[in-house]
Amino acid sequence: MWAKTLFLINAFAGAVAASPRFPMHRRQSDLEAFIQKQTPIAKQGVLNNIGDEGSLVQGAAAGIVVASPSKDNPDYFYTWTRDSGLTMLGVVEQFLNGDSSLESLIQAYVDSQATQQGVSNPSGDLSDGSGLGEPKFMVDISPFTDAWGRPQRDGPALRASALISYGNSLISNGKDSAALKNIWPIVQNDLAYVGQYWNQSTFDLWEEVQGSSFFTTAVQHKALVEGNAFAKALGQTCDSCAVAPQILCFLQSYWDGSGVVSNTPTNGRTGLDANSVLTSIHTFDPEAKCDDVTFQPCSSRALSNHKRFVDSFRDIYTVNQGRGAGKAAAVGRYAEDTYQGGNPWYLTTLAAAELLYDALYQWDAQGTLTVNDVSQAFFQDLVGNVTAGDYAKSSAEYKSLTAAVKSYADGFVSVVQEYTPSDGGLAEQFTRDGGDPASAVNLTWSFASFLTAMDRRDGTVPPSWGASAANEVPSECSGETVTGTYATPSPGTW
Ligand code: NOJ
Ligand code: NOJ
Repeated sequence: MWAKTLFLINAFAGAVAASPRFPMHRRQSDLEAFIQKQTPIAKQGVLNNIGDEGSLVQGAAAGIVVASPSKDNPDYFYTWTRDSGLTMLGVVEQFLNGDSSLESLIQAYVDSQATQQGVSNPSGDLSDGSGLGEPKFMVDISPFTDAWGRPQRDGPALRASALISYGNSLISNGKDSAALKNIWPIVQNDLAYVGQYWNQSTFDLWEEVQGSSFFTTAVQHKALVEGNAFAKALGQTCDSCAVAPQILCFLQSYWDGSGVVSNTPTNGRTGLDANSVLTSIHTFDPEAKCDDVTFQPCSSRALSNHKRFVDSFRDIYTVNQGRGAGKAAAVGRYAEDTYQGGNPWYLTTLAAAELLYDALYQWDAQGTLTVNDVSQAFFQDLVGNVTAGDYAKSSAEYKSLTAAVKSYADGFVSVVQEYTPSDGGLAEQFTRDGGDPASAVNLTWSFASFLTAMDRRDGTVPPSWGASAANEVPSECSGETVTGTYATPSPGTW
C-alpha cells in the first residue's frame, strides 16, 4: 500500500510541485485520467460529424462539417461557416502535429468550400462577395432560405484562417502550386470580402444581435494579416489586406478600461461575453508579447477581462455554488443568456482554460510575467497579495503566480470533467442547476474546443500569424474599405 502511494506521488510529481495540497493532487490525477480518456472521444466526435464518412451525419457532402447531428430542439443539422472554420483549423493543427491520416479530409473541406462560395443564398452571391457572409447552408451545400440572423461576417475570416494554415504547410513542403491552385482562389475571395465589408454591421457569433462584434473584428484583422503573408509567399498580392491597421484601430474601441464590451450596441447587456475570451484564444500568437492591442492571452487586458467574465457567472448558476472568486467556475456565453435555458457551455468553459494555458506558454517563452494595475485584480484572486512588477522566470513570485494560474486553468477542465457524461459525449450546454447535458448533443465545436485546450495545456501551439508585426495602431481610425474582386473557385485536384 505504502509503495503504491509512493509510486503515485512520484508519477504526479509535477502536479505536486504546482499545488502542494494533497486533495488537489488527487483531483489532478483524476484530471489526467479524464483527459486521456476524453481525447480520443473528442477526436472521433469531430470526425463523426464531417461528411461524407462521418457516422452521425448521413447525407452531408464530403468535407462538410455539420454543427451537430441534432435535428430538432435545436435543429443543428446544417453547416455553419464559423463552426466549420474553427473546427477545421483544429483538424489542421492535429495534421501538423503528425496525424497524416487527416489530410484527405482537409482537402475535402477545401473543395467543399470552393463549391459553397459559389452558391447564391439569401445574403447574396459571389459577384460582389455578399453571399460569402451567409452563416449556414444545408449539409448538401444547397442554400438555407428561411429567415436567419444574416449576414455573419466572421465566417469568411475564419475560413480563410483555416485554409491558410493548411496552405502554409503545403508551401513549407514545397507544394506551392497546390496551394496556389486549390487554396488561394478561395482565400482570395474571403480576404476580399473582409476588406470590403468589415466596416458594415454584422450579426454576432451567437447569431442574435446586429451591430459590431469584437470577435468578428478581431478575426477579420488576423485573417488579413496572415492573408497578406500567404499572398506574398505565393507571389500574389492582397489589396484588401491593406485595411488591417484600420480594423485593429477599431478593435481598440471595445475596451472599457477593465473589460471588453463585446457588442455595440450593447442591447442592454453588460458586454461581458465569451465572445471576448474566444477572441483571445483564436488570435493567440505564440510568438507575440503580452500585447494589449491584440488582446493576447497573457495581456493585462485579456486577464482583467477573463476575471470579470468568469465572475459574472459565479452567482447566477447553482452549479457554481462554492466556486467563489479565484476558483474555476462553469461559464456560459453571457450572463443575460436565456437560449435553451441560458446554461453554461462546454466550449466557453474550455475557452476560459485555454486562454490561461496560452498565457502560461507566452510567459514561459518570454521568461517574464508582468503584473500591473490592470491585471492585478486577476492575480489577486489567485494568490492573495500581489504587487505590481515584472517577475523573471527565476523568481519565486513567477513560480507561485504561474503555478496558481496553471491550477486555475486546470480547474476549468475539472468543471467540464464533472459535467461530462460517462460516454464522453459533449453537448452544447450543461444545465445551470444540475449540470446535466443540454441543448444540441455531440456538438462538433464542443469536441474541437476540448482538443485545442488540451493541446495548449501540453504546450502544443499553432504557428505564429504575425501578430507582433501587426500591432501598430494608427493614430486616427478610419473606416476605409477596398472593393473586392471575386471569382468562382473550382474544387481542387490534389
Ligand atoms: C438563438 C440562439 O441564441 C443562437 O445562438 C442560435 O444560433 C439561434 N437562436 C438559432 O438556434
Ligand atoms: C448557436 C451558436 O450560438 C452559434 O455560434 C453556432 O454557430 C451555432 N449554434 C451552431 O453551432
